[in-house]
Amino acid sequence: MQASPQRWAFRLLPLLLASLLLAVTGSIVTAEEELEKERDPAYWNAQAKETLQAALRLRPRVHRAKNIILFLGDGMGVSTVSAARILRGQMEGRSGEETVLAMDTFPYLALSKTYSVDKQVADSASTATAYHCGVKANAKTVGLSANAVAYECNTTFGNEVYSVLHRAKAQGKSVGIVTTTRVQHASPAAAYAHSVSRSWYSDADIPSSARRQGCVDIATQLVTNVDIDVILGGGRMYMTPKGTPDPEYPTSSSRKGDRKDKRNLIDVWMKAQQHKSSQYVWHRKQFDEINVKTTDRLLGLFEPKDMRFEVFRNATRDPSIVEMTEKAIQILSKNPKGYFLFVEGGRIDHGHHDGIAKLALTETVMFDRAVQRASRLTRESDTLTVVTADHSHVFTFGGNTPRGNPIFGLAHKKADDRMPFTSILYANGPGYVHVNGTRGNITLVDYYDEEYMQQAAVPLDSETHGGEDVAIYAKGPMAHLFHGVKEQNYIAHAMAYAACIPPYTDCPPHLPASTGHTHTLSGLLLCLASLLWILFR
Ligand SMILES: *[C@@H]1O[C@H](CO)[C@@H](O)[C@H](O)[C@H]1NC(C)=O
Ligand SMILES: *[C@@H]1O[C@H](CO)[C@@H](O)[C@H](O)[C@H]1NC(C)=O
Ligand SMILES: *[C@@H]1O[C@H](CO)[C@@H](O)[C@H](O)[C@H]1NC(C)=O
Ligand SMILES: *[C@@H]1O[C@H](CO)[C@@H](O)[C@H](O)[C@H]1NC(C)=O
Ligand SMILES: [Zn+2]
Repeated sequence: MQASPQRWAFRLLPLLLASLLLAVTGSIVTAEEELEKERDPAYWNAQAKETLQAALRLRPRVHRAKNIILFLGDGMGVSTVSAARILRGQMEGRSGEETVLAMDTFPYLALSKTYSVDKQVADSASTATAYHCGVKANAKTVGLSANAVAYECNTTFGNEVYSVLHRAKAQGKSVGIVTTTRVQHASPAAAYAHSVSRSWYSDADIPSSARRQGCVDIATQLVTNVDIDVILGGGRMYMTPKGTPDPEYPTSSSRKGDRKDKRNLIDVWMKAQQHKSSQYVWHRKQFDEINVKTTDRLLGLFEPKDMRFEVFRNATRDPSIVEMTEKAIQILSKNPKGYFLFVEGGRIDHGHHDGIAKLALTETVMFDRAVQRASRLTRESDTLTVVTADHSHVFTFGGNTPRGNPIFGLAHKKADDRMPFTSILYANGPGYVHVNGTRGNITLVDYYDEEYMQQAAVPLDSETHGGEDVAIYAKGPMAHLFHGVKEQNYIAHAMAYAACIPPYTDCPPHLPASTGHTHTLSGLLLCLASLLWILFR
């Protein structure tokens, strides 16, 4: 007898309920079990002993790096990393605090001083110039020394400074940029462009006086300055002639092509290296179909401007930062001379500016997953991986919250105004809510919502960057150069030295013959010895 679909559903229902119950109680039990373990001093002693042994075993890798990957969490201050760690753990059903992020496993750490030549609290343009090009600069400018003045076109020329990406390409390495913002945004731009304004994305953004003085927009520089093998992110509208309908939003007038010079820069990039196999993609399906074995160059532009926040990403339309990182490594790693890859989690910063911690922290968790994916696809013996931030934000979490408190949850004590407050707060920003002189009452507000703005002490349209140091995490060859408190521009120098990229010529030696070779050699000798023994015994 055939069971009707209803009857099947009826039979499955208890099973579904049971698994749901298991899922819910399972996670509670896990967290409780965790605490049970932690009450025993043996747990902490054993755990610390293991950590100590790993620390004693740690040896710097003093040979040359073949590949470099620089991961940049835009606005990813230390408080953001700690909160994202708890979030990641809680998303996986644990208490959260004990979670080990992919970046937490990196053996070497330094602090980066992020101030710029003209600002105590820096922006993403001057800081990008520091970590890409090795020189501190002025706010708003990219790829120029501090002799350049923001928005003064005629101070561009003669003040150009060149990135590690640029110099790596000149050495024959493959190079790539991956970002969740538009690919012309400040952080990637300092890798290939020289501009007195970070916001001159297309020629339509440049004042005509500056254009007359010879200033060139960032999108044009993207496809004409350095041949970048892999470019993945947003930013389609700055690449096509004015009025060109966007392929994804064909009826939207605000997302049309923006270029006054009528150039199609996607075509320019495609035709730049005729002898290589180049591909342009703008949605997920085409991206997935890319054969990395037969593709030498890849341009993927998935949105007209920035890519969507991870919580709002449509996974059938756009790849994630994890998938973009993977594809980039697969293509770039075909070069026997190695590669330089820049990966930016660019919208951590945007979530914070909006005063919405959930946006910023989910971006950070995804950024960490990209670090994890890269670790699986690379070897620590030949790849230097650096993870850092350009600057911090005025983001904190506190309030004596108990262990396992939901990261977006409330502190358990009421404030002196007898109203509840969330653990996460901003020092300034759009989350300032005062009603008739008193702080907003969030008792009935859904503070777990994707778009909930945590409260801020000072009203500002956009929450600001923070001025304290950010962390630099490093692993791989010469990673030990990252220790202590360093100026941010040192990052470019240590990376260049590690991979023997100019100006450094007195470089670490190549990796000695791999253990694989030693094995073959000893195997050969053993064979020869046995043969001699058989022949002459
Ligand atoms: C550069 O341009 C500014 C106006 O934009 C002008 O005041 C200044 O004199 C110019 N400097 C040089 C060296 O031409
Ligand atoms: C995601 O994109 C696909 C393909 O364009 C579309 O069919 C689907 O409705 C979108 N999903 C959401 C939730 O917007
Ligand atoms: C805050 O709102 C809740 C719910 O409306 C209310 O019960 C409480 O009295 C309010 N607290 C203050 C201090 O106004
Ligand atoms: C603010 O105070 C005014 C005047 O006392 C009152 O009319 C109004 O309802 C108050 N607003 C709120 C949201 O409590
Ligand atoms: Zn910012």
